Amino acid sequence: MQNKLVGTFALLLAAFMANAQAVKLAPVFADAEKQTQLMLKSIDEAKGNKPELVAPRTLENGQLKLVPARDWTSGFFAGELWMLYEFTHKSEWKSKAEAFTAQLEKEKFNGGTHDMGFKIYCSYGTGYNITKDAAYKEVIIQSAKTLSTRFNPVVGCIRSWDHHKEQWGYPVIIDNMMNLELLFAATRLTGDSSFYRIAVSHANTTMKNHFRADYSSYHVVDYDTLTGKVVKRQTHQGYADESAWARGQAWALYGYTMCYRETKNVAYLQQAEHVAAFILHHPNLPADKIPYWDFNAPEIPNEPRDVSAAGVIASGLLELSKYSKNKKEYLSVANTILQNLTKSYRSPIGENKGFILLHSTGSKPAKSEVDVPLNYGDYYYLEALLRQNKK
Ligand code: GLY
Repeated sequence: MQNKLVGTFALLLAAFMANAQAVKLAPVFADAEKQTQLMLKSIDEAKGNKPELVAPRTLENGQLKLVPARDWTSGFFAGELWMLYEFTHKSEWKSKAEAFTAQLEKEKFNGGTHDMGFKIYCSYGTGYNITKDAAYKEVIIQSAKTLSTRFNPVVGCIRSWDHHKEQWGYPVIIDNMMNLELLFAATRLTGDSSFYRIAVSHANTTMKNHFRADYSSYHVVDYDTLTGKVVKRQTHQGYADESAWARGQAWALYGYTMCYRETKNVAYLQQAEHVAAFILHHPNLPADKIPYWDFNAPEIPNEPRDVSAAGVIASGLLELSKYSKNKKEYLSVANTILQNLTKSYRSPIGENKGFILLHSTGSKPAKSEVDVPLNYGDYYYLEALLRQNKK
């Protein structure tokens, strides 16, 4: 009996390893180009006489939902266009990328949100890394200055949200780790270490207060600004305060990996490895490695997946594999995710207004964006595919 079990396990492992090849990029990018051409047409149709709507976010009842520059997701489509240019070197993608990026510039002065990194680094940052355009550099620096105004030295963190004032005094969400990349970039571009110091303080404070003993992350930590102490730990988009919201775990993995890249502080590398272990060894992570929207969602396996979390995890693991002794495992899982997204979660060509991937979940508790395409699902999928190529 035991031999039979070992044999079955070996077969399963062999199947798993066989599946874990890198995705062949040329046909996938050719399809992504076709979908993005359709998306450009869909944007024109949906825009009507509303020039303030600058980027596609999702589908609502089959209709394309566009968002203004202030929306936290406004930078992802421009970033996708830059990545299409990076892969294909076609000038048409460059001019589209420039046009969609330019529409976001005014956000560099918007201090009312912590989402500056998502908006500006995914668009201007991705563009700058490819073109080294001096005007983009200035936008990145100004955006970092604006984001820095949300830092409170008593708390040691950047404030995430200004909404729900009745519920939280100084909310910091795990997603905010992603906005630190903009600050690290600003220090590199200016030599001014104040941005770096804010990023490190935020990462250290979050490492101390946002994680449970099993290295799963809370979504929201609320702080007292007089003492810097934690007031409460809750969720907003997860199933429960004590559950592990899938995208939150993905932001943590990607965020600490990026912090290690920028600082070489081994504590961040270890944190990223611990978070990766939580995700990859969780009994509720499905065999295809595309997580349910929350690791503790009550009706698993009858719960929606979150493809966006899968893309962020794949991209984070591909970077982490460059730094960690667990390289083989991380590469294998990242490849499995990307193979499965490519095979089973893509939109048919010519459908879904041009989104590339289906089956993401924005906020299940709010019954908002459940099992739909999301622009950040597409963004991190393309980023991960390119990272696979850069190893
Ligand atoms: N930053 C918001 C989200 O992940 O949904």
